[in-house]
Amino acid sequence: MNSKLISLGVAAFLAFLVCSEAPFVKMTNAVCESYNKSWVVFHYCRLKAYSRNKTSLNINATFLEPVNNASIKLKLMKKENGYKPFLIDVTLDGCKFLRKRNHPAVKMVWNLIKNVSTVNHTCPYVGLQVVKDFHRIELPILLPSGDYLLLLDWFFDGKKQFITNVYFNFNED
Ligand SMILES: *[C@@H]1O[C@H](CO)[C@@H](O)[C@H](O)[C@H]1NC(C)=O
Ligand SMILES: *[C@@H]1O[C@H](CO)[C@@H](O)[C@H](O)[C@H]1NC(C)=O
Ligand SMILES: *[C@@H]1O[C@H](CO)[C@@H](O)[C@H](O)[C@H]1NC(C)=O
Ligand SMILES: *[C@@H]1O[C@H](CO)[C@@H](O)[C@H](O)[C@H]1NC(C)=O
Ligand SMILES: *[C@@H]1O[C@H](CO)[C@@H](O)[C@H](O)[C@H]1NC(C)=O
Ligand SMILES: *[C@@H]1O[C@H](CO)[C@@H](O)[C@H](O)[C@H]1NC(C)=O
Repeated sequence: MNSKLISLGVAAFLAFLVCSEAPFVKMTNAVCESYNKSWVVFHYCRLKAYSRNKTSLNINATFLEPVNNASIKLKLMKKENGYKPFLIDVTLDGCKFLRKRNHPAVKMVWNLIKNVSTVNHTCPYVGLQVVKDFHRIELPILLPSGDYLLLLDWFFDGKKQFITNVYFNFNED
């Protein structure tokens, strides 16, 4: 994938997360799975009711060895006769992403997640990783109503270590 495409994908993803005209979005399921339990162990991965219309995402995992090289593959799927790829399919260098906190778009995403997780630092990552009560999701109006699935594949040293998949629905009205 060339770098222009990657930037476009990242921009789309950021727009997806931060656009302020926020219609109704609700997470409906979360799935975490480790492919290498000598590196990543999940203790907890589930949604909780946050308010009548919202759920919050809660993840508790341990990285048993330090992580210095992480990449994240983000792929959005939309449900129409099964889940089909939709709009976003991009791979980010996780460690680099976290270092570049001065970038305005990165900063906006950062502001969404920094209060609810332990990821408020740069690589290496080791030990307990927690996402607690993540619920402030804002989406652009340009997503059509429907059911979606955000697939996040996490690679350490180029090898897939775990996945975190979040199902959500989006309601335009
Ligand atoms: C699994 O994790 C260990 C570290 O605990 C690492 O050395 C090994 O390369 C990993 N295996 C794969 C297939 O990623
Ligand atoms: C994470 O899960 C472990 C194992 O269940 C537990 O001991 C620990 O207290 C949890 N930590 C947080 C911050 O939830
Ligand atoms: C919350 O849900 C209720 C009933 O399902 C609906 O009437 C209301 O508009 C929703 N509120 C928001 C902010 O989406
Ligand atoms: C994140 O880390 C920075 C630098 O270590 C610190 O100044 C800031 O207060 C932290 N933010 C949160 C929300 O923990
Ligand atoms: C994050 O926490 C700080 C201090 O606790 C608070 O001032 C700020 O409004 C919070 N930001 C978000 C996005 O919740
Ligand atoms: C991360 O590891 C992969 C596989 O070993 C390698 O191809 C890549 O260049 C590394 N990335 C960085 C930023 O070191």
